[in-house]
Amino acid sequence: MTNNQNRLFFIALFFAPALAVSAAEQPDAEQLFKQKCSLCHAIDKKKLGPAINTMSNNEEVLRQITTKGKNAMPAYEDKLTGAQIDALVEYLLANQ
Ligand code: HEC
Repeated sequence: MTNNQNRLFFIALFFAPALAVSAAEQPDAEQLFKQKCSLCHAIDKKKLGPAINTMSNNEEVLRQITTKGKNAMPAYEDKLTGAQIDALVEYLLANQ
């Protein structure tokens, strides 16, 4: 490796984990919702599941049902991180 390549390599090593952490700390709730929830939920119309604007506005209820599921609503505790579930709960509350 040339000196310049070496330098770039170490810069990349140093910054890559920092970028990964900041991405994990701030999950993109809108994107997650589209990918994981929009099959059954929309903001203002009923699909297989209730519209967001008719859901409970109790943060704990939203978190509990997203985590553990309820009837036809799947549980997400093994599919999403706690931070992702928190971001989705915020997204639900913000769209009521
Ligand atoms: C396979 C379809 C399906 C998917 C996918 C799905 N849901 Fe649901 N969800 C439902 C159904 C059906 C209910 C109604 C459950 C009941 O009360 O019987 C529900 C209920 C809920 C409730 C409770 C609302 C209330 O006030 O009672 C929340 C919160 C919720 N879903 C969040 C989510 C989130 C967040 C996602 C994505 C991570 C998601 N759901 C993905 C079908 C789905």
